[in-house]
Amino acid sequence: MQQAEAQKTDILIIGCGIAGASAALEAAKSGLKVVVITKNDELKESNTFYAQGGIVSLGPDDRPELLKEDIIQTGDGINNPEAVEILSTEGNKMVDSILIDELDIPFMKNSPDSLDYAQEGGHSRRRILHIRDTTGRTIEEKFVAVLKGYSNVTLLPAHTAVDLLTVPHHSKNPTSFYREPRCIGCYVLDNKTKKVKTIFATYTVLATGGCGAVYLYTSNPKGAIGDGYAMAYHAGARIVNMEYIQFHPTSLFHRDADGFLISETVRGEGARLITKDGRTFMDKYSEQKDLAPRDEVTRAIYEEMTNTDSNYVYLDLASYAKIDIKKRFPHIYQTCLRYGIDITKESIPVVPAAHYCCGGVLVDGWGRSSLSGLYSVGEVSCTGLHGANRLASTSLLEGLVWGTRTAQHIAAHFNPVAKFAVRDIHQWYYPEKEEETDPALINQDWISIRSTMWNYAGIIRTTKRLERARADLNYLHHRIVKFYKEARMDANVVDLKHGIQVALLITYAALGNPIGRGSHYLKT
Ligand code: SIN
Repeated sequence: MQQAEAQKTDILIIGCGIAGASAALEAAKSGLKVVVITKNDELKESNTFYAQGGIVSLGPDDRPELLKEDIIQTGDGINNPEAVEILSTEGNKMVDSILIDELDIPFMKNSPDSLDYAQEGGHSRRRILHIRDTTGRTIEEKFVAVLKGYSNVTLLPAHTAVDLLTVPHHSKNPTSFYREPRCIGCYVLDNKTKKVKTIFATYTVLATGGCGAVYLYTSNPKGAIGDGYAMAYHAGARIVNMEYIQFHPTSLFHRDADGFLISETVRGEGARLITKDGRTFMDKYSEQKDLAPRDEVTRAIYEEMTNTDSNYVYLDLASYAKIDIKKRFPHIYQTCLRYGIDITKESIPVVPAAHYCCGGVLVDGWGRSSLSGLYSVGEVSCTGLHGANRLASTSLLEGLVWGTRTAQHIAAHFNPVAKFAVRDIHQWYYPEKEEETDPALINQDWISIRSTMWNYAGIIRTTKRLERARADLNYLHHRIVKFYKEARMDANVVDLKHGIQVALLITYAALGNPIGRGSHYLKT
């Protein structure tokens, strides 16, 4: 197949959720040439777009120290103190300057000059800024609209990152082995032409989001299969804490709902979890009751489901809410109504779902990974902020803070002499005889990955389950890599190869950590 032309840019950003978009905005303002790619057909399609609850800030009765305590308490004490400090002290300033002043995000107010702060689990204060229950959507749409106005930003939807370009790995020059390894861009599949472009970048920023979709039940969109973790792993960057997969306690239990999230802010407004026979149960498990950290609520639900031989529990907002439900949660109300549930009158059937990866590509306070030239921001990164379990509504803020800081760091230290000889780099290799892919095989592989992860590396783990996952996934990995090498290039094939790699990363991390804590729960 004919080779696509190579492109060159100062910064290549892979992913366009709040983290990638914040990095792009900051870099654009500093005048650098920026390319942003996303594998989705629409730029706004990202985990950020689906975020309901909101973004942590500091309310009037709040202080950075209180936020720090809540983050560390929820993270089971293994958080990175430097990251906690950065987020707690810089976060609300960036919310004010970027989201409110620059992007004019219309956060809800309870009077003309007072913002409305919502409550979520693990928070000792009401401190979540929100736009009813579609906070992420509004923020994401605004970012995309603003980025479109910059002539130095090229936005490429429907472009799938295939493999990070690294020297010496992709170099034909044998002397490159004597140089420090460096990321110099990415091989990128144009989903429409099916050609692989080589995008050379002085700096590459991974902002690909999380990996909830390697689990059978997830609140994430189907594309969240962890591409960034897999590519960073192949490129040799350090990846840590992958065993800490957070399960959100309340996704809608319905055959067609695809893990639709029932935001924790619903419990923040008084809703209570009840069993199928109408008993509240969180008092038994935590002093914070229904607003305990997510891992505790998730395990309590799991136990109650087991005890009552049920596939779900209920969330009762109708009996407890002191708010106008339709006004406060219009999106959740409308969506549940589509599935025949009127949340102003009846309880919502809910079940936990894979939600957030607290680990990822290890980065410092400026988003730098262990591989030169590669930065990582948002969920795919691990700043250490979340420790073993993430405090609710800190993820949008982490994306905003590290996205912005990363671009600031690149702009301040921009070094065009971080050079590489483009002619030395291998062009993409297409197999001689490209095999058509069979969607039935791809589907079956995904069913195997997702059910293995759910059953053996899910909410409750045991060494035996994890060992079984390792064996089954290793076999699948071997088959999928062989298939990938022979297949006609296609975004689904790339996703599958990345997905199996991420499933293995999680499984190996879980097996390698005998201490169950936070969202890595080991039953002995
Ligand atoms: C939610 O609204 O419950 C999700 C918020 C989050 O994951 O931080």
